[in-house]
Amino acid sequence: MPTKKLWILCILISFISLSGCHKKSSSKKLRIAFSQCIGSDAWRETMLKEMKRELSFHPHIEFLYTDAGGDNQKQIEQVREFLKQDIDLLIISPNEAEPLTPIVDSVFRQNIPVIVTDRKTSSGLYNAYVGADNHAIGALAAQYLSNHLQVPSKIVLVTGLPGTSASVEREKGFREAVKEYPHLQIKKTISGQWLKTSTIGEIQANISDFQNVDAIFAFNDQMAMGAIQSLKTNPKASSQLIVGVDALPGGGNGLEEILNGQMTASLLYPTGGAESIKTALAILYKQSYQRENLLNTAVVDKTNASLLNLQYQKIDDQQNDIDRQQQLLDDQQRIYNSQKTTLNVLIVSLVLAVVFGGIAIIALKSNWEKNKHLELQNNEIVQQQNQLIQMSNQIKESSDARSNFFTNISHEFKTPLTLIITPLEDLMYQDGLPKETVHQMERMKRNAEKLLKLVNELIDIQRFSKEKLSLQASPHDLNKFMSRIVQSFKPLSIKKKIAITYSNPTSVQLLWFDSNLMEKVFDNIISNALKFTDKHGRIDIRTELNQFGDHLLIRIIDNGKGISREHIDHIFDPFYQGVRSHEGSGIGLALAKEIVTMHHGQITVSSKENEGTSFTLRLPVGDQHLTDEEKDLSPLPMPAEVLKSNIILGDEPPEIDRCLVIHKGHVHSILVVDDHFDILDLLVEKLQDHYNLYTAPNAEQAMKIALKSVPDLIITDVMMPGKSGFDLVKTLKADTRTSHVPIIVLSAIDSEENKLEGARARADAYITKPFHLERLLATAANLIKSREDLKGRYQSEINITNITSDKTTSDIDRAFLNNLSAIVETHLANPKLTVEDIAEQMNISRIQLYRRVKSLLDCGVNDYILTRRLKKAKHLIMEGYNINEITDKVGFASSTYFATAFKKAYGMSPTSFKKNPGGV
Ligand code: FRU
Repeated sequence: MPTKKLWILCILISFISLSGCHKKSSSKKLRIAFSQCIGSDAWRETMLKEMKRELSFHPHIEFLYTDAGGDNQKQIEQVREFLKQDIDLLIISPNEAEPLTPIVDSVFRQNIPVIVTDRKTSSGLYNAYVGADNHAIGALAAQYLSNHLQVPSKIVLVTGLPGTSASVEREKGFREAVKEYPHLQIKKTISGQWLKTSTIGEIQANISDFQNVDAIFAFNDQMAMGAIQSLKTNPKASSQLIVGVDALPGGGNGLEEILNGQMTASLLYPTGGAESIKTALAILYKQSYQRENLLNTAVVDKTNASLLNLQYQKIDDQQNDIDRQQQLLDDQQRIYNSQKTTLNVLIVSLVLAVVFGGIAIIALKSNWEKNKHLELQNNEIVQQQNQLIQMSNQIKESSDARSNFFTNISHEFKTPLTLIITPLEDLMYQDGLPKETVHQMERMKRNAEKLLKLVNELIDIQRFSKEKLSLQASPHDLNKFMSRIVQSFKPLSIKKKIAITYSNPTSVQLLWFDSNLMEKVFDNIISNALKFTDKHGRIDIRTELNQFGDHLLIRIIDNGKGISREHIDHIFDPFYQGVRSHEGSGIGLALAKEIVTMHHGQITVSSKENEGTSFTLRLPVGDQHLTDEEKDLSPLPMPAEVLKSNIILGDEPPEIDRCLVIHKGHVHSILVVDDHFDILDLLVEKLQDHYNLYTAPNAEQAMKIALKSVPDLIITDVMMPGKSGFDLVKTLKADTRTSHVPIIVLSAIDSEENKLEGARARADAYITKPFHLERLLATAANLIKSREDLKGRYQSEINITNITSDKTTSDIDRAFLNNLSAIVETHLANPKLTVEDIAEQMNISRIQLYRRVKSLLDCGVNDYILTRRLKKAKHLIMEGYNINEITDKVGFASSTYFATAFKKAYGMSPTSFKKNPGGV
């Protein structure tokens, strides 16, 4: 949190500092605009220079300047542009008075101060005028000429642009003054437009007027010089005196022309540049100022020109000094500004350094604390890690021990199994043995061999995963090898009517592999294919080369049941029981995968339920992939003539119809449910002498048989394809038609959890495999007996004696009676229970129900129901229920009706019976 606050503070300081640096630059400068009518002549250049010099003392003033080039319209446009630029004051020297008046008036009316300089507008709307008195200049010129021309003299006037106020006023001043001097006569007036060239042209055009002229008064020096030039080149023209206006110093200007004797005199006409700026500042700063600022004038001629020139030069020198000083001042200001900026930056940096330093210290402290915490956590983790390593070592040790034990015990199994199989084979082939004994022995041998195969596979897989056995491959004739394998499956495939084919269209003849191991691979895959392919199916083994020709693909394709998606991903997992779990140990395919991988190959499977399965072995061609250690180059012993006949033939039990009905006229019947043929066969063999038998290979079929035949007992396996034995128990116990049938569950799993599941499903007994046959028989007999006892008691209860469990009563009749009893018992509390209701539930007609009850129990259906109600009522009285409760529970419409019926049946009222139960 403090770090966050410091950050905010830091940003704030930076902001304040930076805004301080920019404060000056952001305050608005005052804007003075100067619109010049024509800027190209020396007089007006001097005016601009003066203005700028004056402005250099006021750096906060922004100066805008335009030159209209003597074009009225252009000057109007330029003033409009100024207005858009938000100017604070306008200085204007209008080109011509009339055309410029409206725009200057408009500026004035917008409350923007206007200073008119040199020339004026016609309206006189302005804040101030700066310039000499042109009227007085005209008059002064007349006075000068009068003084220098004593006799009657002729004068020519050269005026400026007619519409300009300076020209108009100068002419007016001259003419008025001339009236005072009768010896002076204005002979001619021409307009030189303020320009030398125009003047020359105009004089040429009117040259006759310039004969015998005594004086020329040109309204500026430029036009005077034009006149001088014209007179020089024209012998007919002459003039004693030539007077101009401006008296500007510098090369080619009036003052120089006077000094070199070309021009007689000139009237000083100051530009007033500095005065204009001073007046403008006074207006902007709201100081007092004069509206009319008339500049002094004087006559300059031979008598004072040198002095004036000297003065000008001195002023010029001083001005240069001032300029230099100003330059120096500017440099100092720049240095000062840059130092100020540097100082500001330094201050900001310092503040930031302090703030960041603070943050760094806080962060350092917090990091230190975090590190300490992390160190503690790290120590804890290291400790836990050590514990985990220790535990993992312990687990590994115990797992190794278990695995060793597993391997050892598997080996231990081999010897006794061999000792069972070998003598058994001896015994089996002895002459004169009863057929039944041979059958039993065959079963024993078949299962002992199955166990031996399983043990061998277990040992193999342990060796592969633990010992990392190295491959011992040698070159084999592929076709011969595969033909032998296929041949070895022939007897079984013929028996199951399944076609097995092998084809090798590739050029591969020789393949490197370990034949003993590869046999196991094909044995597993083909046995599986045979197991899961129906009669008349087919198994095709085909080879194919991959596109690079370096791997051979051997495909084993069947059109059997297929494997569901959910199981296919785990099919190569060792001990995976998800698929066909009841069929095997889940080792064979895991072993096959280990072997193929060991051969640097891959095994894959694809399958579609009810369409078939395809296993593909991808094996490298040639021996490039094998190291020397993986090759066995010892001469090949030829494999035995017939491979694995024991496994292939002995593995499969004989085909039988697994839904058997063996009816040998016994009183009771048992339904035996198991998917394992040998178990079914064994139980049938042992039970058929005592019971009528039904067999079923799965729960679905068992369900149908149980409902149809209602046996006296059911013995069922738990793990079966499809529904389990527990599912069967649950379904039958929930059905009133079979709920009374005792069920024995046979299971290979001896766990408390499974036993509990059996009990919850309402199994009557749970016997684990391997079971003791006599115990199973005794349990079966006991369960049937107790059910019989119960029934006998129930029958005697309802005084129906003519139905006994003797041999004359068929299974179907007993099923019928059980069903009837269950329905009536369920609906006993319903006083509206009718014969029709019962018939409907039993799926027979009312008449059929009546006839069967009459024939079996020798009573009507309603009598039967009434007797059941009263018997139950008797029990409930003895259990302490009150009469009203009993009336409800046994379905009498009223307690009076109940009392009457009870008295009629037992000769005493329910209340008397409650007091003296022995009385009945
Ligand atoms: C310069 C000028 C000056 C003259 C003034 C009159 O453009 O012609 O010579 O005195 O303008 O406005």
